[in-house]
Amino acid sequence: MTPVVLIAEELAPAAIDVLAYDFDVRHVDGTDRPALLTALADADAVIVRSATRVDAEAVAAAPRLKVVARAGVGLDNVDVNAATARGVMVVNAPTSNIVSAAEQAIALLLAVARHTADASAALKRGEWKRARYTGVEVQGKTVGVVGLGRIGVLFAQRMAAFGTRLIAYDPYIQPARAAQLGVRLVGLDELLRESDFISIHLPRTPETLGLIGEKELATVKPGVRIINAARGGLVDERALAEALAEGRVAGAGLDVFVTEPTTESPLFAFDTVVATPHLGASTVEAQDKAGLSVARSVKLALQGEFVPDA
Ligand code: NAD
Ligand code: MLT
Repeated sequence: MTPVVLIAEELAPAAIDVLAYDFDVRHVDGTDRPALLTALADADAVIVRSATRVDAEAVAAAPRLKVVARAGVGLDNVDVNAATARGVMVVNAPTSNIVSAAEQAIALLLAVARHTADASAALKRGEWKRARYTGVEVQGKTVGVVGLGRIGVLFAQRMAAFGTRLIAYDPYIQPARAAQLGVRLVGLDELLRESDFISIHLPRTPETLGLIGEKELATVKPGVRIINAARGGLVDERALAEALAEGRVAGAGLDVFVTEPTTESPLFAFDTVVATPHLGASTVEAQDKAGLSVARSVKLALQGEFVPDA
């Protein structure tokens, strides 16, 4: 019987081409839980992005499953322990979209600094209001990077070209490595106190969820602007809304939300918030790289061959 590869979210056409010759490629909407569980019954492999939950229930619903492929970086929507316990391999594409994600964080930072989204929307409504949209320069400002991993480093390297002073909080990084990048490692308290802009580049784990909450937002430099293009919930949404309402936080650029998809959030009420629907990896280049990388891994895994690190 031809192995079944179940594609649960949008995947680059080139990636589907890699699989179509050897496998029975099927599609399902991974956010439609009953449809997903039914389709998993026949699946030898499932390919997801961030919207499909591959938890213990999903693994149990897939008796033939040999590989779960995440076409992207974060594995927080995959229960790796449940898969491993069943002998199911989990693969991802850890470098596929890191440039795109870093560029998205920078796009949000600049848009927040210059009110780009709101000014554009106002002009298209027929309002030519220059004074209302006076922004701030980035040059000379202190930028705090929370999480100096692959994306945090790319973000910091690019922000250095803007003439910013870079500090970072990441207890797992050696100070010498940060120094090579021109970044000073500091504690979270100091980063919150000193940063004019804060950009979050953490995975979502039990440790990082709510890392920037009410207590932390009470200690920020007044007028800070916060960017989160990593995962919803790393910055507590309710506490952020309160800090924006009080003016302690002057603006926020948000690509990710606690609940996704979402079209409603108290944060959307603020003119000073630029919000995008989890577009960090949504570039042609990143989708090609992520799709091709996991398609090749799935093919090797189902053919019983060694799957090298992506
Ligand atoms: P990475 O693993 O290379 O870097 C994460 C960094 O966070 C590491 O350096 C690690 O030491 C640090 N870290 C972990 N726990 C920490 C903690 N408690 N406190 C401080 N630092 C901590 O990952 P990456 O490739 O840079 O990606 C980061 C995250 O970005 C991903 O896990 C994913 O959730 C998110 N992401 C989002 C998009 C998007 O579309 N918006 C795209 C790609 C990735
Ligand atoms: C990721 O972790 O790779 C991103 O969130 C992008 C995505 O889910 O497509």
